[in-house]
Amino acid sequence: MICKRKASFSRFIDGVHVDPSRGEVQLLINAVGVSSHIASTLKPGTRVILMGPTGTGLPVPENATVTVAGSHSAVTSTVDGAAMWRAAGNRIVFIGHFRDAERARAVQRAIEILTDQAIWVLDEGPALKLRRQQDACFVHGLDEFLQSCAEMDAPFAEWVSSTDQLILSDHPESMEIFRTMLSGDLKPYLKPGFNAIAAVNSPMQCMMKEVCAQCLCRHVDSVTGEPSRYVFSCFNQHQPLFELDFKNLLARQGQNSVQEKLSNAWLDYLIEGRQTEPAMQDAVSAWAHEVTHEPVDQDNHPAP
Ligand code: FES
Repeated sequence: MICKRKASFSRFIDGVHVDPSRGEVQLLINAVGVSSHIASTLKPGTRVILMGPTGTGLPVPENATVTVAGSHSAVTSTVDGAAMWRAAGNRIVFIGHFRDAERARAVQRAIEILTDQAIWVLDEGPALKLRRQQDACFVHGLDEFLQSCAEMDAPFAEWVSSTDQLILSDHPESMEIFRTMLSGDLKPYLKPGFNAIAAVNSPMQCMMKEVCAQCLCRHVDSVTGEPSRYVFSCFNQHQPLFELDFKNLLARQGQNSVQEKLSNAWLDYLIEGRQTEPAMQDAVSAWAHEVTHEPVDQDNHPAP
């Protein structure tokens, strides 16, 4: 099996840690889509070839405040970046946007270990039970949370004026809400030199930079709102927040939706068949063998 490091919408794998002395590479695999489903069936001893990482790493300021905001993919970014941000003397704030407390609770312990402060923004109550004095929970959704931050008297609003580097990773609609508030009501409170980037979760295919163009993302002029350029997101999935065209991103994500549903349905069918039909079991074994043992040649990589 060949694993490619992909961007969030189809992003299922992230490098977390490398220990050359032990010959170990630690990976974080998100349960999204077919690739992660296949990865969940790997057994010890299965041959895995890693390609990448492609793209560009997360920014690492020094002695600053790094705020990571968004949903599950923001957790992944935090896992990715926390050790190097800490090593560079940064303070780490996490703003987690989840539907309810149950989903937030699933990552709460990890986030507490990795960050200096966590602010939980839930779309519906009840609130998450907090375990650290500096943490906060807001249960009225992202819009109202950001509106409350603009009033600056809420105890959880301090991130607005202390953040040097914001990293957003959420659904396009939510990232657009953030951008609107940051360029409007929250703008007067932002720190000089404030920088914001967003994880562009556009579909990806080859990850080879300027080959398939699946990852194309449109940017707009932050002043006029007019299209300014197209970029290949596999060069760098973290792009300037104020230049992104989120409507275009949403459309790009939607165009692969049917194909992804079909792939998921086909894999479910194969895996269910594996449990119930001996003939299908053989077919699945042959298919799995083919995927995991296909010889790699540089000009014709097997599909991930
Ligand atoms: S994913 Fe193919 S060019 Fe970027």
